[in-house]
Amino acid sequence: MYQETKFPYQLMSPAKAELETWVNTIGRQTNAAKVHWCDGSKEEYDSICNLLVNKGTFIRLNPEKRPNSFACFSDPSDVARVEDKTFICSRIKEDAGPTNNWMAPKDMKVILNELMEESMTGRTLYVIPFCMGPLGSPYSRYGVQITDSEYVVVNMYIMTRMGDAVYQYLQPGEFVKCIHTIGAPLHNGAKDVLWPCNPTVKYISHFPDERLIVSYGSGYGGNALMGKKCFALRIASVLGREEGWLAEHMLILGVESPEKQKTYVAAAFPSACGKTNFSMMIPAKGMDSWKVTTIGDDIAWIHKGDDGRLHAINPEAGYFGVAPGTNYQTNPNAMESIKSNTIFTNVAVTKDGDVWWEGMTKEIPEGLTDWHGHPYDPTSGKPAAHPNSRFTAPAYQNPALDPEWDNVKGVPVEAFVFGGRRATAVPLVCQSFNWNFGVYTAATMGSETTAAAFGEVGKVRRDPFAMLPFMGYHMGDYVNHWLQFGRDLPNAPRIFSVNWFRKDENGKFLWPGFGENMRVLKWIVQRVHGGAGAVECPIGWMPRYEDMDWTGIDNFTKDDFAKIMTIDREPWKQELLSHEELFAKLYDRLPKEFYFLRELLLSALWRSPEHWELSSEIA
Ligand code: OXD
Ligand code: MN
Repeated sequence: MYQETKFPYQLMSPAKAELETWVNTIGRQTNAAKVHWCDGSKEEYDSICNLLVNKGTFIRLNPEKRPNSFACFSDPSDVARVEDKTFICSRIKEDAGPTNNWMAPKDMKVILNELMEESMTGRTLYVIPFCMGPLGSPYSRYGVQITDSEYVVVNMYIMTRMGDAVYQYLQPGEFVKCIHTIGAPLHNGAKDVLWPCNPTVKYISHFPDERLIVSYGSGYGGNALMGKKCFALRIASVLGREEGWLAEHMLILGVESPEKQKTYVAAAFPSACGKTNFSMMIPAKGMDSWKVTTIGDDIAWIHKGDDGRLHAINPEAGYFGVAPGTNYQTNPNAMESIKSNTIFTNVAVTKDGDVWWEGMTKEIPEGLTDWHGHPYDPTSGKPAAHPNSRFTAPAYQNPALDPEWDNVKGVPVEAFVFGGRRATAVPLVCQSFNWNFGVYTAATMGSETTAAAFGEVGKVRRDPFAMLPFMGYHMGDYVNHWLQFGRDLPNAPRIFSVNWFRKDENGKFLWPGFGENMRVLKWIVQRVHGGAGAVECPIGWMPRYEDMDWTGIDNFTKDDFAKIMTIDREPWKQELLSHEELFAKLYDRLPKEFYFLRELLLSALWRSPEHWELSSEIA
């Protein structure tokens, strides 16, 4: 029988009465065994980690190798975001738009109410008050998550500012209510499993009109850590449209020139396309007089300040990064960030109690336990770590953390970068002619799908602004919101597109990437400040070889550069024609400008040589 709970603190909370009523309503419905109001202390974090170790869900890693760190293996049904089970339940169907799954709020609530009946039986209901953004910032937002998953509590501890300091900021009717249950009740004292979830039924439902999120059946990151995609992108995008700001799937980084000039850049890439690596980049050999610092690696909230500039904050406080491929060459700062106090999900565990994943070292260590918890057989042809395995690490452990990362005023953004994963056609870097062309490029961005979401991997899909899985409303309205946002800016940031993933005819990557991306970033920053040359190409402005800094680069020639910058008419014609599919989808709300912009791009392609090479433009 559920026992009523009371707000347990002497602290002031304007929303105390609302909180108590809400928590008790959910507690009664789900038949939770008890309620734990989180205070966000280190003692609480440690004790919940210990509880997970005692349950067998967490493996405590060797304290000499990875102090205060844990590994866990999820249920194989629960390894990624479930896009087909993610719903925007707006009151009006058209407001969700054609790129989202929609269900009427009342219909979804019938389903959820039935599923949630007694769904926390035998489990503790945790109440997590959390803040997205620096505590007390005018740009921050508050939420409370109810969950029956200890894994979620300790991940939220790392990923958000959570705890009793938040209660004073909760205003009645204003904070976002997040209800999460793993949907694995323990009836009659049944034995628990290591990763409880509902292997067959999952719903990630958003009710933007009520500022409410209900997630059922999954314990995996993006489905269950509700501050992240559910709140900071889907619900926040709706708030941003109503209130005139932007909630974006973007990293924010600072670039410091050798003269100590600081420029902040926000960059959008789809999941698992290297946002974390880019945000923590250590510039390559020859570029080391430049420095990159991190504000955030995944989400940016961007407001217009009174000074006419754009102020960006990172709503998160930690990194939920993709592990495979991360190593001391690709991302030394990430490797340093995860040395301690880190939770690893679905990586492999070494025989001496450390972690390993594909790409961490060349040699596969002997005696691994794979992400299923079984002894790993390297001849199996299967990876030891799941391709979407993750680390959860606190931002303050990042050696490249920007000193302003927690500034309540945010940082001024001066450039936007959009990138996808494209094996063909799309050049290394290009500056859009103006804001409208930039918005067009971002809206029609294509990218090959990755393991971050369930479904086929490697298929090109249109992913406008890298927001396709994270939009809280109609994509057409969102594009209009971006156009309007730029019209109101006295000095709109420049917009660039990049592609680190172009391949040659043998399938080999043409660009070395990682620290070498500093060369591209330097050109971008110089363009922002009115420096660095460029030539007009059919799709925007591109650097010539001599416009970029090649100091210290090995194995990359002027010919390689020419190859990665070519614009071929035929694939570009296909590319522009394929935008039609998106246009048709968004037809009734697509900005009229877009038809003309596409016409302009098409006619520019027709006017240029069939095979457009930068070198041919150099006088
Ligand atoms: C993420 C994602 O987890 O984009 O950041 O999937
Ligand atoms: Mn992401």
